[in-house]
Amino acid sequence: MSAPTGQTQTTPPIARLFDLTGKAALVTGAAMGIGEAIASRLAEAGAAVMIADVNMEAAQATAARLAALGRKVSATRADVSQVTDARAMVAKTVETFGRLDILVNNAGVYPFSPALEMTEEQWDRVLDINLKGSFFVAQAAASHMVEAGRGGRIVNIASIDALHPTGFLTHYDSSKGGVVMMTKALAKELGPRGVTVNAIAPGGISTPGAAAGGSADQASADATAAFMARIPLGRVGDPDDIARVALFLASDASAYMTGSLVVVDGGYLLS
Ligand SMILES: NC(=O)c1ccc[n+]([C@@H]2O[C@H](COP(=O)([O-])OP(=O)(O)OC[C@H]3O[C@@H](n4cnc5c(N)ncnc54)[C@H](O)[C@@H]3O)[C@@H](O)[C@H]2O)c1
Repeated sequence: MSAPTGQTQTTPPIARLFDLTGKAALVTGAAMGIGEAIASRLAEAGAAVMIADVNMEAAQATAARLAALGRKVSATRADVSQVTDARAMVAKTVETFGRLDILVNNAGVYPFSPALEMTEEQWDRVLDINLKGSFFVAQAAASHMVEAGRGGRIVNIASIDALHPTGFLTHYDSSKGGVVMMTKALAKELGPRGVTVNAIAPGGISTPGAAAGGSADQASADATAAFMARIPLGRVGDPDDIARVALFLASDASAYMTGSLVVVDGGYLLS
């Protein structure tokens, strides 16, 4: 199909669309879980990847594992809820790799708490990491991308909880709803500067964080069974299910997408 303007669309080969050779990426919360899988896929596609995490020991272990596969990676300790750390991790990426083309805002926490028992500290912690942190890391990264003049890609990890509350996660659901609207607001402002901003809404994904959130009681087992029964594809997701979509949104394959939310949930939200 020709473009409405009559311009000829270029059709690069598929391998080149997903080739990130020469690009540099920053992935927050990349020591384990979904972030680790995303860092792994971006590095496999050729990007130099900075693994930023509050858990430096785990970040270094992940970096060592990927380096052993021949990937170009580095690790830095950073707490995304601290604006100084947000700026420092972007500066460290540029200092280490000479550039920054891709940011994946993945770091996030989801501690269960009934609304009527929620404390101000619990609310602030979740909002500070998931929403405020994502914004200030994006701000620091986009400032560099705009100044460098090569465009860029920002991928925010939201959640199906931005669209449908799981229960006992009012602070989390609010933070992820905020991430979706932040994605759209940034996309509108940064599009003219060549930076695309998109989000992914994962469903239930098997990660260390998700495993830690469960408990052995009957109510927890019932909730898990009810959750599973709603998934048409019949399984929880693997971190790589999200990483594949993050790679798409970080690559030229998604060149004409910005402000979008891609749901990756095995069909959970259909019922
Ligand atoms: N696992 C799921 O089912 C699921 C579903 C929807 C959305 N998500 C989202 O995906 C993202 C990753 O989740 P996960 O399940 O892989 O989590 P996880 O707990 O397995 O891993 C999270 C990583 O982020 C790091 N981290 C936590 N707080 C940080 C901070 N303040 N600064 C820097 N790093 C920090 C942790 O050290 C850890 O390495 C989160 O944003 C989460 O909300 C997860």
